[in-house]
Amino acid sequence: MIPQVFLVAAAALYILHAPLINALSSSLQQVTGFTAGPTAAAMYVYIPTTKLTLAPIVLAIHYCGGNADYYFSGTQYAALADTYGYIVIYPSSAASGGCWDVASNATLTRNGGGDSETIINMVSYAVVNYGGDATKVYATGSSSGAMMTNVLAGAYPDVIKAGSAYSGVPDGCFYDPSAVAGTTTPFWNTACGIGTVVKNASEWASLVKSYYPGYSGSYPKMMLWHGTSDFYVFYANLAQELLQWSSVLNVSFSKNVTNTPTTNYTEMIYGDGTKLIGYSALNVGHPVPVHETVDLAWFGITTPVTASASTLTTTTTTTTATTTTTATTTTTTSIAATTTTTKVTATTTISTTTTSPTSSTSTLSKNTSTSASSIQIVTTLKTTTTGSQACSLLYAQCGGINWTGATCCTASTCTFYNSYYSQCV
Ligand SMILES: *[C@@H]1O[C@H](CO)[C@@H](O)[C@H](O)[C@H]1NC(C)=O
Ligand SMILES: *[C@@H]1O[C@H](CO)[C@@H](O)[C@H](O)[C@H]1NC(C)=O
Ligand SMILES: *[C@@H]1O[C@H](CO)[C@@H](O)[C@H](O)[C@H]1NC(C)=O
Ligand SMILES: *[C@@H]1O[C@H](CO)[C@@H](O)[C@H](O)[C@H]1NC(C)=O
Ligand SMILES: *[C@@H]1O[C@H](CO)[C@@H](O)[C@H](O)[C@H]1NC(C)=O
Ligand SMILES: *[C@@H]1O[C@H](CO)[C@@H](O)[C@H](O)[C@H]1NC(C)=O
Ligand SMILES: *[C@@H]1O[C@H](CO)[C@@H](O)[C@H](O)[C@H]1NC(C)=O
Repeated sequence: MIPQVFLVAAAALYILHAPLINALSSSLQQVTGFTAGPTAAAMYVYIPTTKLTLAPIVLAIHYCGGNADYYFSGTQYAALADTYGYIVIYPSSAASGGCWDVASNATLTRNGGGDSETIINMVSYAVVNYGGDATKVYATGSSSGAMMTNVLAGAYPDVIKAGSAYSGVPDGCFYDPSAVAGTTTPFWNTACGIGTVVKNASEWASLVKSYYPGYSGSYPKMMLWHGTSDFYVFYANLAQELLQWSSVLNVSFSKNVTNTPTTNYTEMIYGDGTKLIGYSALNVGHPVPVHETVDLAWFGITTPVTASASTLTTTTTTTTATTTTTATTTTTTSIAATTTTTKVTATTTISTTTTSPTSSTSTLSKNTSTSASSIQIVTTLKTTTTGSQACSLLYAQCGGINWTGATCCTASTCTFYNSYYSQCV
């Protein structure tokens, strides 16, 4: 069932490029000057007018059937870049089905000549040409882009400082000896996709380490998301990813926190929660909606560049022995989100005391009165409206247990795969 989902060109999806993003300071640009390869993936960037002189780089990596433009439009990383001043690189797969190669030895291995190397070369380009900060490079992606996030973390742990993978598989899980880099239809590993590739923690960790032999530095902190009702890239892959990174990062399961970051999501904390976190999303399908502000907090991107409102309070306390000056700056920034129904609020509080080192705390909260923007990626891809009738687009879901979306297809046929999943093909 899986290959049909991803391996064929998804040109029909491209017709639905709704103008979701408004009021951005800048626009998505293709970087025609990027020719390093080694594969043909294209480089797109969003560089906000608020870009920091030395700007963090966020790699935002699309799913199968997607492209740079889709991930730009369907997520809020660009809008948030306006607030935080980082650069977003949107790599765009050259494969006909829009999947990333996460199966060839070339892409899995450091400098092996595959798509992962091309993406890392995009990072180098951004460092040289756009003032990207080589010490603050982060990767995130959905589905195939989540698989690539894991691959990048394994092969380029010295480049990627943190990752957030939505509905992916462990690094190396897709490997197949027959897979070749640069093909128009990257190898799809069905056994892995349906969650039947099972290894123990040390086996998964050895695989990661084999992709960069001799490396003894640290590996990126990882955040892994998966829906329990994922029948594309099955939920069982979350447990395997957690085994992998818990071993690589040497942290063990500590505790679950329910309903975090939102209702029905369980946060699975490993160690002290600074290196590895899983999010199990109850009854959520494929892929898990992107939680941009959670990702940015994980990456350490929490300080807005500009503020729409600020207050400064200074108090001086004098005692017989010492003088303490406390300055408290509270900055609240509200960002118009990509939909009119959602608002993201970032609050940063910085407290400075002359007698102690600067401390900074930051909290990010998404207005959860609606979750329209995070669901956008799914709904906009899967349905199109013709008059009053909405049908699913090519390769989108059109049926299955508890499926509440359209059961008709645009320019394709609703095909039964299993009781949970029918797809327009
Ligand atoms: C995988 O690629 C690396 C780098 O090109 C190479 O050294 C290694 O021999 C390859 N392994 C296999 C099994 O092909
Ligand atoms: C993991 O698998 C390897 C190879 O099959 C085996 O040697 C090892 O004992 C296993 N480790 C654990 C903790 O089960
Ligand atoms: C893993 O962590 C434990 C403590 O949690 C520590 O004792 C051990 O040395 C660590 N292992 C490595 C290889 O860093
Ligand atoms: C933690 O939550 C996950 C996901 O719901 C669940 O599979 C696991 O059993 C929980 N672990 C504990 C110890 O409660
Ligand atoms: C949480 O899960 C329950 C059980 O499936 C469901 O009834 C409820 O609607 C879900 N809540 C949200 C906010 O998704
Ligand atoms: C969340 O957004 C809704 C709709 O824009 C708004 O009515 C509500 O006041 C907001 N809540 C918070 C806590 O900002
Ligand atoms: C379908 O939805 C019902 C009601 O929310 C729930 O009880 C049931 O577990 C769901 N079935 C599946 C397979 O998710």
